[in-house]
Amino acid sequence: MTYKLEMLEQFDAPRSLDDAFDYIVDFSRIDEWDHTIVSAKKVSDGAIGLGTRFDVVFSMGPRKTPIAYEITEFDYPNRAVLTGTSDNFTAVDTVTLSKTAQGCHVNWHAELEFKGTAAKLVPLLEKKIKAGGAKTIRDLAVALRDDFEVPKLAPLRSLADKLVLPGVLTFTKYGYSSAQKDWRPVSASIKNKHVVITGATSGLGLSAAQQLAHLGARLTLVARDRQKAKDVVADIKRQTGNTNIKVEIAELSSMAQVSALAERLLKRGQAIDVLVNNAGALLNPREETDEGIEKSFALLLLGPYVLTEKLQPLLAKAGAARVINVSSGGMYAKRLSISNIESDKGEYSGSDAYARAKRGLVITGEQWAEEWAGDGITVHNMHPGWAYTPGVVTGLPEFTKATRKVLRTPEQGADTIVWLARATEVGKTSGLFWLDRHPHTTHLTSSTRETAQQRDQLRATLQSYRQRLGV
Ligand SMILES: NC(=O)c1ccc[n+]([C@@H]2O[C@H](COP(=O)([O-])OP(=O)(O)OC[C@H]3O[C@@H](n4cnc5c(N)ncnc54)[C@H](OP(=O)(O)O)[C@@H]3O)[C@@H](O)[C@H]2O)c1
Repeated sequence: MTYKLEMLEQFDAPRSLDDAFDYIVDFSRIDEWDHTIVSAKKVSDGAIGLGTRFDVVFSMGPRKTPIAYEITEFDYPNRAVLTGTSDNFTAVDTVTLSKTAQGCHVNWHAELEFKGTAAKLVPLLEKKIKAGGAKTIRDLAVALRDDFEVPKLAPLRSLADKLVLPGVLTFTKYGYSSAQKDWRPVSASIKNKHVVITGATSGLGLSAAQQLAHLGARLTLVARDRQKAKDVVADIKRQTGNTNIKVEIAELSSMAQVSALAERLLKRGQAIDVLVNNAGALLNPREETDEGIEKSFALLLLGPYVLTEKLQPLLAKAGAARVINVSSGGMYAKRLSISNIESDKGEYSGSDAYARAKRGLVITGEQWAEEWAGDGITVHNMHPGWAYTPGVVTGLPEFTKATRKVLRTPEQGADTIVWLARATEVGKTSGLFWLDRHPHTTHLTSSTRETAQQRDQLRATLQSYRQRLGV
């Protein structure tokens, strides 16, 4: 016995056909607007098109049902058919889009065919199922309207940051899933936007590159190891079908190489929509670069400073560019120290040098946010929580062993980087410090607060290194 059910919903969206079509047919993002879906992922390689497959898990009450979806018709950007198969039903979703004066009109036709016990139950629940379907399409319309407010620094979140246990919990995978509950859909398109990511061969940078390539961004990946970069690009191209990926090689603790990298990008002249200062490492023991600079400071603060300052004209050229600084929750432990900026006073600790440099990067980001507001450049500092990456395994081996079970995946750690790069509401802010798509405090106690004079000194010190090194 089988039972058939049909639904037809339609709405107008203030979006281009391409944007709306890209968002709707990418069922790896369906869980953003369909609240009956608990997880969704793309499981076939290549760009989204005919034959793309998605594994989706649908939930009604406590029961979870896996559905294998495939795009069975694809006429970009006007019509697509997605066919889903599960144990007890098949779904054929036909999406038709047409251009309107204000954007586009979306027409959604769903045909469901139930078998077995489901076929007996569905007639009793038909009204409820149809009402649920209508609500889902209304939620899709809201997602495509894309006019969400900027998340605010909530007093409770601020308090939790300052209490040891809740504060630490926010860094773990539990903090991620708790924050996730009030996220908004992100239908804003980053397609063809130019994103430069440093440290894109491993961990968070690699995951951000994969996610942004999937979304159609034009990427410039900065790496220090040519072969590793080549392998990463080949993998990303195969997985996403995105061929707009360039590589630049630079050792980012060398200011000569950072400067040469910036010069090459300036010569290329391509506007930069998003710059992600992500490359980093926790370094023990103390080391100096060939230029005689302590390496944590060089890699984590002076390098991003020189690179971003030099790329400012390309950021300004983009019109509404974003700079994303990947800092660390470790920053909370330290205060800015200009006199010990190269960690040459007292006994060296890699964690302390790292924390001070990350603190300096956040202050620098806040300064850029003010200075570049008139150029349409927004600046966003973030920290990724604790994610299980090669960098954490090498930099903090004991910590990793002790916390392995609660660490985030690299995708979870990189999520806020990708969100900051593309969500519309992010462009309405600048200079905030983000974790899991929420702004957070930059100081847990007043003892780490620097004075306005120390902030100015930091800037003067970074400038003096530039002058001395001629970069
Ligand atoms: N994972 C976490 O829990 C966590 C927490 C707080 C902050 N962070 C920050 O997140 C960022 C990414 O870290 P991750 O955990 O993803 O580490 P990761 O897996 O080690 O990745 C770091 C990336 O930076 C590159 N890199 C390191 N040193 C470099 C240098 N001297 N010159 C050029 N590139 C260099 C690495 O290149 P190779 O592939 O060649 O090594 C790699 O691509 C870092 O800034 C880190 O401080 C991470």
